[in-house]
Amino acid sequence: MSRVSLMNIYNHHIAQKYVKRAGLAHAISTAYHAFRFAKERGVNPDLAVKAAFLHDIGHYTWYKNGQWDYDLYKENDIHAIKGAERAHKLLIRLGENPVAAKEIALAILLHTDSYLPQRDIARKPLQEVVAIADEQDEEPGGTHHYREISEEKAKKMLEKLDDKIVKYMQISKDDTHPIL
Ligand SMILES: [Fe+2]
Ligand SMILES: [Fe+2]
Repeated sequence: MSRVSLMNIYNHHIAQKYVKRAGLAHAISTAYHAFRFAKERGVNPDLAVKAAFLHDIGHYTWYKNGQWDYDLYKENDIHAIKGAERAHKLLIRLGENPVAAKEIALAILLHTDSYLPQRDIARKPLQEVVAIADEQDEEPGGTHHYREISEEKAKKMLEKLDDKIVKYMQISKDDTHPIL
């Protein structure tokens, strides 16, 4: 089965709508951070990068009178839950391996603990990679969601990351990186 690429994901209308709403530049830099951390920690970079690219796909804009309202967000937000489900549906539609799709969805579900009553998640390595990749790109006041990137640059960066992943997976094929 051929690999579902970042470009396949990016070109799908669900990603076009919701990844852009949450911030395409943030999604791409989180994906790059995730690639680096995945290699450092022996985590499957294909899963880490896909989860990182899609981690905020459930994002909703909590505005009041045209202004971002942090209290509304804190009280009502479930973007990790929504995102996990949305990403899973998208990946399955694109033909992703179901075990991989589940692991990616779980990493999205656990990328933040802001919606949980108790903030003491014990994350598995893949989930940890996605959470720290997101933290690396966070800016105070949530401005990382609004950083701009051109369509052309976004595509170039995603294609480049696809190439890096494919190369890395080929090199490490012999010391078999398991799917998870
Ligand atoms: Fe998030
Ligand atoms: Fe994020």
